[in-house]
Amino acid sequence: MADHPEGSRPLWGSRLGFILAAAGSAIGLGNIWKFPYVTGENGGGLFVLIYLGCVVLVGLPIMMAEILLGRASRQSPVGAFAAFSRPGSSWPLVGWLGVAAGFVILSYYSVVAGWALHYVLLSLTDHFRHLQPDQMGGIFDTLYGAGDINLFWHLLFMLATVSVVLAGVQGGIEKTCRVMMPALFLIIMLLVGYSVFLPNGGFLKALDFTFTPHLERLSRRSVLEALGHSFFTLSLGMGTMLTYGSYLDRQASLLKVSLQVVLLDTLISLLACLMVYPVMFSFGLAPQAGPGLVFKSLPMLFAQLPGGLLISLAFFVLVVFAALTSAISLLEVVTATVMDRAGWSRRRAALVTGAAIFAFGIPAAYAGDGRLLGAWASMFGMNFFDTMDYLASNWMLPLGGLLIAVFTGWVMPESARRAAFGAPAGQAWLYTGFVFVLRWLAPTLVLLVLLHKIGVLQELGVMGS
Ligand code: PFF
Repeated sequence: MADHPEGSRPLWGSRLGFILAAAGSAIGLGNIWKFPYVTGENGGGLFVLIYLGCVVLVGLPIMMAEILLGRASRQSPVGAFAAFSRPGSSWPLVGWLGVAAGFVILSYYSVVAGWALHYVLLSLTDHFRHLQPDQMGGIFDTLYGAGDINLFWHLLFMLATVSVVLAGVQGGIEKTCRVMMPALFLIIMLLVGYSVFLPNGGFLKALDFTFTPHLERLSRRSVLEALGHSFFTLSLGMGTMLTYGSYLDRQASLLKVSLQVVLLDTLISLLACLMVYPVMFSFGLAPQAGPGLVFKSLPMLFAQLPGGLLISLAFFVLVVFAALTSAISLLEVVTATVMDRAGWSRRRAALVTGAAIFAFGIPAAYAGDGRLLGAWASMFGMNFFDTMDYLASNWMLPLGGLLIAVFTGWVMPESARRAAFGAPAGQAWLYTGFVFVLRWLAPTLVLLVLLHKIGVLQELGVMGS
């Protein structure tokens, strides 16, 4: 903490500051935009249960491993891997893979956050009120196709992200999360509270859909999807938690802080379902609308509710806050790495990396426009935006997570790992369990997912698609 300064490494001002910043990173578009539609597509209750299993068995231990590596090395990802491996080893490449993932994810994440900014403006001008349902999808499609508008919001959002990271760990990241996270909790509670009173039993149907397991609605794919999503939503596999952990005091219990972050993230995902589904159900719609759920279906429904302007405004402000506190963590990984490796000042590193990520995201802003990179889609079968998302969430994060588990479980010297874990006396079993999960369980599960993705398991006849 601030009163235990360690060298020149900045530290969080308080334990709560760390929790809010780490939860701010975890809670983002993944919870409010992605989780409700992925759960909707996978049939609800049982998917939620499997997802919770993945979070506990894989997500929690890998989060602990990341925080441990960061705190023990006081370094960003590349340096952390170098600190606990032999000189000249290739392990620091895993750190670079994380930096690359952060770079890629932020470049399109910022474009999606830009859509939410656009919708804040549309809510403010009461634009949704007079639209017919069939025009609503049109609003999103028009926005998606308007590269220049996307570029404008992408620029604005990146400027906001850079300005927070520029201001430092305590003065920028922690301060922003201390304001935005409580605001986010409050807004979501109010919106869920509102949903309870929607007509046609919408809320009860939503409860049933989210929590009652139905075996017949689940496919084998769902298990893989649940594991993949747990990486994205918990910000794992690219050194975000590692970097935030590098600013954490040595007294904090690894299990306790990780558990708090995981619980907050899961709570918000579930609340997001209880906020989004009741609106759908009370209008007699099923929550299987796919990625368009939040940007197409919801505003149309908000427009018909009493107080719709305020509701849609609150909702999209919530999305922007959630996205910003995640975006700053993505940029922080890249910025901190440049600072640690090249010795640049925070100011210079944040400005240069922010500008580079903005530039890299320009094709994502024009993904639906067709004027730029029109040939990309015919070359790769998906547009630039989807290609980046696919690469990062389906490959880079799980692969990064796998390697982090293997590194912490097998490569990091036992003495350093044990000291960094710091199990309280009488809880040695905790440490043993942690190492077992990192060595065997987490890598096996992640490996299964990756093998399934490259089709090896189908070849062997072990699993259908
Ligand atoms: N966890 C964020 C979300 O759920 O939206 C996204 C994210 C942030 C992924 C940071 C990875 C990361 F390192």
